[in-house]
Amino acid sequence: MIIALMLYAASAALVRGAPFSKRNGNSLMMPLTHVDDSFYTTNLEFGNPLQSVDLVVDSGSADTWVMSSSNPFCSSNSNTRSNQTYDGSRITSTIDCQGLSTFNVNASSSFRNLDIGRFYINYTDGSLADGYWATDKVLADSVDVSGMQFGVAEYASAEISGILGIGFPRRESVRGYTGAPNKFYDNFPQVLKDKGIISTVAYSMYLNDPNGNSGSLLFGAVDPSKYSGKLYTFPMVNTYPNIVKVSATLAMTLQGIGARNKNQQQTFTNTKSAVLLDSGTSLMAAPQEIVAKMAHFISENATYSESDGVYTMECPADDDDTEFVFEFGDLFISVPLSTLILTPSSGSLCGLGVLPTEDESWTLGDVFMSYAYLVFDLDNYQISMAVAKFSKDGNQEASVQIQSDGTIPGAIKASAEPWTTNEPLTVSGSIFGNKKANSTSVSSSSFTSSTRVRSDTARETGVMKATSFKKSQISPALSHTANSASILSTKSTDRPISSVTSVAKSSSDTGKSVYTSIFTKYIYAATTVACNIS
Ligand SMILES: *[C@@H]1O[C@H](CO)[C@@H](O)[C@H](O)[C@H]1NC(C)=O
Ligand SMILES: *[C@@H]1O[C@H](CO)[C@@H](O)[C@H](O)[C@H]1NC(C)=O
Ligand SMILES: *[C@@H]1O[C@H](CO)[C@@H](O)[C@H](O)[C@H]1NC(C)=O
Ligand SMILES: *[C@@H]1O[C@H](CO)[C@@H](O)[C@H](O)[C@H]1NC(C)=O
Ligand SMILES: *[C@@H]1O[C@H](CO)[C@@H](O)[C@H](O)[C@H]1NC(C)=O
Repeated sequence: MIIALMLYAASAALVRGAPFSKRNGNSLMMPLTHVDDSFYTTNLEFGNPLQSVDLVVDSGSADTWVMSSSNPFCSSNSNTRSNQTYDGSRITSTIDCQGLSTFNVNASSSFRNLDIGRFYINYTDGSLADGYWATDKVLADSVDVSGMQFGVAEYASAEISGILGIGFPRRESVRGYTGAPNKFYDNFPQVLKDKGIISTVAYSMYLNDPNGNSGSLLFGAVDPSKYSGKLYTFPMVNTYPNIVKVSATLAMTLQGIGARNKNQQQTFTNTKSAVLLDSGTSLMAAPQEIVAKMAHFISENATYSESDGVYTMECPADDDDTEFVFEFGDLFISVPLSTLILTPSSGSLCGLGVLPTEDESWTLGDVFMSYAYLVFDLDNYQISMAVAKFSKDGNQEASVQIQSDGTIPGAIKASAEPWTTNEPLTVSGSIFGNKKANSTSVSSSSFTSSTRVRSDTARETGVMKATSFKKSQISPALSHTANSASILSTKSTDRPISSVTSVAKSSSDTGKSVYTSIFTKYIYAATTVACNIS
């Protein structure tokens, strides 16, 4: 196993060291659309003649797939084809595909079934995509990425047209299920590099104002007009050190978290945590004791609702200026309470859109990522971050090129010490202390030094069940930056394999956004390694 790991690392290094033409000025900008307050999609065109497909941009997965127009889960198809089955069971619950952009393989003269086995991915809420692998003519904003391998979902049970997975290739869903091809491939970001469109597998993600204008995804470059303050470059952290030698997920180090408003401020923890940055997650997930503190900061009366899977409380006043402050050492990102409040479509209680995890894992989804300008460099295992500056025009200019060695002219190497291992979450000081994260008023925290956070009230992992909530849209954000600390090297340590969570929007009864469940993308990183040596 160790030999396998080393072989894998070596071949990966060879690939990275290959002489790529240093064609500066190479980039690709893809506009993003915020759909139903749930997803960010971008448009690709498949086939000959071209069929336009809007794909959910997912930094938490690595495969691109499109829903086949023949998908029997579509209610429109269940009418025409009676009694269809999937995996031996009659399909009873269908989805509305009218508003989706599905792909008709028969209408493309250039379509090719790769015939290399099955494409399959599933989620804990029961949704899945199942089909086969293919290639075709593919355009991304008129840039030709033809030949890119993608999945055709003959069966897909979530109401999305497909996914553009932009994570590491070793996260590809190519193993661990019947019929799997057991073979990795160059996914979309990698193909952009292979074709010389970018010189490094790196992209800047700018979601822009969650309640307003659209953002964009810029491959190969950075647009400094889309952030304020400085852009800091942090190392990615490897959350699966027992399985892979280098990061397999887009994760970085959170140094601490707290909250503040005009009356009080509180540090919830300043223990380092590895946080996953996942654009495929609408909300966010955090260790349950942190979520409890967040909820109780909002209201002393907050209680966990088993039926809804979230904390509920009186709805905050419209002028509530509470913000949650995520401390990254060199930088603070503040997320306003309003972004995280789920407003009821029935009843009077609001929900807190942070799902408690019992395995202590963190996933910062769209509600966080909107407030950060993020540059993911998958070749150099770096994530650069700044405070996002919202703008009317969400399109980015490729004004600064990301260099092959990961250098971003103008960016500063972060000094914060990276996460290495999971520690109990404690509070040993204030994240608001002697840093530039100025707090206007200070009524001291209710936690004394080294308060051990208890986890005796462990909740069922945050599956957010069918609820009557939708996200509210109240006020815009305030943001702050800060400096601190010094860097040490990263060390591998034990960490159990856990699933990566995402929030899926599932059913919408009366046209309102209803968040029903989080789904798990299974990680086959272990088998990934073994597979790569054959
Ligand atoms: C394509 O044609 C085949 C053969 O007629 C058919 O079985 C299949 O359902 C068609 N696919 C789509 C997406 O219409
Ligand atoms: C579909 O299923 C129903 C109920 O099981 C059955 O009565 C009907 O004959 C089936 N239709 C077809 C076309 O198989
Ligand atoms: C999801 O896929 C995994 C891997 O193939 C499989 O073991 C598991 O049973 C599937 N889960 C469901 C609910 O189908
Ligand atoms: C909590 O509940 C009590 C009793 O109903 C109420 O008086 C108080 O205002 C509530 N607190 C908040 C923050 O709403
Ligand atoms: C932070 O607080 C100090 C002292 O209150 C003040 O001098 C400084 O201007 C503040 N900085 C910012 C960025 O608000």
